[in-house]
Amino acid sequence: MAESPDEGEKKGLRMSLPQKSSPSAAPGGGQSYREIAERMKQVQEEQRLVVKRMKEIPYKVAILSSKGGVGKSFVTANLAMALATMGKVVGVLDADFHGPSMPMMLGLRNVRGLLAREDGSIVPAVNVYGVRLVSVGLMLPSDDAPVIWRGSIKTTAIRQLLAYTDWEGAQYLLIDLPPGTGDEQLTIAQTIPGLTGFLLVTIPSEVSKIVVKKAAAFAEKLNVPLLGIVENMSYFKCPDGSIQYIFGKGAAEEIAKEYNIPFLGQIPLDPHIREANDNGEPFFLEYPDSEAAKSFLDIAKKFIDVVEKGNRTQAQSS
Ligand SMILES: Nc1ncnc2c1ncn2[C@@H]1O[C@H](COP(=O)(O)OP(=O)(O)O)[C@@H](O)[C@H]1O
Ligand SMILES: [Mg+2]
Repeated sequence: MAESPDEGEKKGLRMSLPQKSSPSAAPGGGQSYREIAERMKQVQEEQRLVVKRMKEIPYKVAILSSKGGVGKSFVTANLAMALATMGKVVGVLDADFHGPSMPMMLGLRNVRGLLAREDGSIVPAVNVYGVRLVSVGLMLPSDDAPVIWRGSIKTTAIRQLLAYTDWEGAQYLLIDLPPGTGDEQLTIAQTIPGLTGFLLVTIPSEVSKIVVKKAAAFAEKLNVPLLGIVENMSYFKCPDGSIQYIFGKGAAEEIAKEYNIPFLGQIPLDPHIREANDNGEPFFLEYPDSEAAKSFLDIAKKFIDVVEKGNRTQAQSS
């Protein structure tokens, strides 16, 4: 088994957020040729490390959604835990720098600061299921500290996290992204060699053909496969047992079929989900008998089938 962070040679070095490049010594405020060359060398070295580290992880999947608030982070966190219960070693990179929610959803809100070993590698935080997490949220001094970074700093941060994190034998790396198809999505697709694919999270009401079409076009443009669709907030089971389709019914599955994208499953609306997430408790741990937790197990099974065996049709037909 991979060395756990507890056994590792933790030297107590605290990771800090990347700093803006140091003020230039060159006259006029510009960077000297030497500084630029040194920076380029460092970028090159980091990219080499990314390639090396990513080769060690067989399956690397970035989670996409067209807009915020559809439960992308919730799906990422709970899929990670469902995969872990099936014996998979899972790493999660929280690349949503402005709204990192993985520490809360994986029950790691009390972790402050990531550790680095003497060799410079970053040690992920590990949750109760053994899911390994690296998130900017773990490096912030407090929950309400904002991250004010431009695109280029975020690109650097993603590259450095990928270059230096020791995922400790992870078989899966799930990458939680901010909503949309912007800088972070592009960086992930361009930085990770052999990205296995994107997973799309939607809710029924916004599952218009346009949303899926957009994601499919984005994936195709970047030459990255769209591995599947998970529909969140699909229905609500009332206390009397009746079912309400609050955001509409069945649209995601229909459209997945039309576009030939594996439909991996539905997750109901459940007030316990919001509650657990807000309290920083992993939903999957707190409510293992809930319909949503069972859905995640089913989704994880289909996901493994698509990712590891390339079996897209079985997921489609069920
Ligand atoms: N199926 C669900 N039932 C109830 N609440 C949910 C469900 N999925 C997500 N939520 C809640 O909705 C909010 C948005 O979820 P989040 O995962 O942060 O969305 P995103 O990452 O897409 O912006 C959170 O408060 C989360 O707890
Ligand atoms: Mg999110």
